[in-house]
Amino acid sequence: MYNQLMIEKFYITTAIDYVNGAPHIGHAYEKIYTDILFRHFKKRAKETFFLTGTDEHGIKIQKTAKNMGITPKELCDINSAQFKDAWKLLDIEYSKFIRTTDEDHKKIVQDIFEKLLKQGDIYKHSYTGLYCSGCETFLNPKDLDENGNCPIHGKKPEEVSEENYFFKLTKYKDKIIEHIKNNPGFILPEFRANEVLNQLENIEDISVSRMKSSVEWGIEVKSDPSQVIYVWIDALSNYITALGYDVNGNHSENFKKFWPVNFHIIGKDILKFHSIYWIAILMALGVELPKEIYAHGWITIDQNKMSKSTGNVIAPKTVMEAYELQCPDSLRYFMATAAANGKDGNYSDIDFKEKVNADLANNMGNLLNRTLNMLVKYFDGEIKEEFIADNDLNKKAEDITTEVQKYFDKCDIASAANAIIGLVDEANKYVNDTAPWSLAKNEQMAECGKVLYNVLNLMVKIALLIEPYCPNIAKAMADQLKFDINIKYSEIQPNMVKSGKLISKEEIAPVFLRLDSDFATNKKTV
Ligand code: MSP
Repeated sequence: MYNQLMIEKFYITTAIDYVNGAPHIGHAYEKIYTDILFRHFKKRAKETFFLTGTDEHGIKIQKTAKNMGITPKELCDINSAQFKDAWKLLDIEYSKFIRTTDEDHKKIVQDIFEKLLKQGDIYKHSYTGLYCSGCETFLNPKDLDENGNCPIHGKKPEEVSEENYFFKLTKYKDKIIEHIKNNPGFILPEFRANEVLNQLENIEDISVSRMKSSVEWGIEVKSDPSQVIYVWIDALSNYITALGYDVNGNHSENFKKFWPVNFHIIGKDILKFHSIYWIAILMALGVELPKEIYAHGWITIDQNKMSKSTGNVIAPKTVMEAYELQCPDSLRYFMATAAANGKDGNYSDIDFKEKVNADLANNMGNLLNRTLNMLVKYFDGEIKEEFIADNDLNKKAEDITTEVQKYFDKCDIASAANAIIGLVDEANKYVNDTAPWSLAKNEQMAECGKVLYNVLNLMVKIALLIEPYCPNIAKAMADQLKFDINIKYSEIQPNMVKSGKLISKEEIAPVFLRLDSDFATNKKTV
């Protein structure tokens, strides 16, 4: 049953990236990850929405812009455009790109702040704390490493003394714990839930504004212009402001249709902000909670953390250019499989080449190519009616499709990719076992035709499953197999390839060429 896992609507988001630098492979990992989930669910849902964007306020932007001698907004415009360009290059099919400097976003954030202030969830309080501008957050002295540095950024936080507004996070502690415990799939992968429960033990109320005299580049508090809204309320709210949330309940059609979000896709470093702060804010606003929050791992380069000081930061564009890639499919596929579910992964030139050459060229691409060539050689590219019969591969394809959908329900795209390549392996084994070339040699043409048909028919299902990872390759497969790559899973029939002339010799083209350039010896960084 191909239609059992269909859903009505699907809304997915990425983290919004800070714009004080250019996008790198780590940012790209998350956007590719989310795009793959999105494209898969487009095949299962009637209506879909994919939100990404840039997070543009805060002290870091203010300082960087000052050093460059430009305004913060000018810096944001330049850098935000770089993120958009990168996502275009990677075929990221977002529905909306939000910028936290968008006027409508700023207005809704101000309204949210005022609502929380009015109902007593936000209060004013004098405070001295340790502020890390890398994290854009106050750190608890307990969280620092042995040298007194931020464990993520390796820098000493600044001591800041201010009168700020605070959000009553502690008020929501018990409700959040209860929600996490009662909803085992709420935080994914499930091994991360305990981490969050531990963090909840030590939470305190959080600062949600800064004095304008120390941070200017932020959204002004409407009722107190001496303060700007501190980045996390601003940033997290993007998930609802982008849809048209309204504090008075006059929500837009998009908000009514798409909220609650199906998946928030974020990195493991910002899970606390999403599964504690954001959840508390939503509870305070009386807004329904997200269905699932998925924390992915981090990507290293040749096993090293990417950092400007090490000089090993790689931009997706650099990889595309080094290999002269005509489309981003191989990079997308590699990134999707570079890390096991929720774990860290690694990019290396050698692994990239080996993985995509093995799976996409030798395994999948070759199988299609040689099967089509045999169809042309033995049958002049024609599928005869008698080739079409029910077969075990049909059942297998249906089972794997269900398995893949279940992995996608848990955002586990690496396991899903392995299951798809497993199906390609089976098809290759089937061809080698049945040896259609021997059947043809022995003039068992009906048998030979059946084998070729079964493989080509399976390739349709494989193309539909691999499309979210490799949209261009899948489209090239669909063009040769003569079907519409944009159909939903519920439209899949057991026999997708129809009788009649399928293809001529001239139409057959490899869908993926092996990567041969040697990037490793000549690596460029951003
Ligand atoms: N602006 C905040 C997020 C606000 S969401 C309401 C932020 N920005 S960020 O630019 O630092 O990171 C954006 C996303 O990229 C995060 O989810 C982060 O985990 C991810 N990554 C940044 N570097 C990464 C790797 N090296 N590998 C994988 N993902 C990484 O945090």
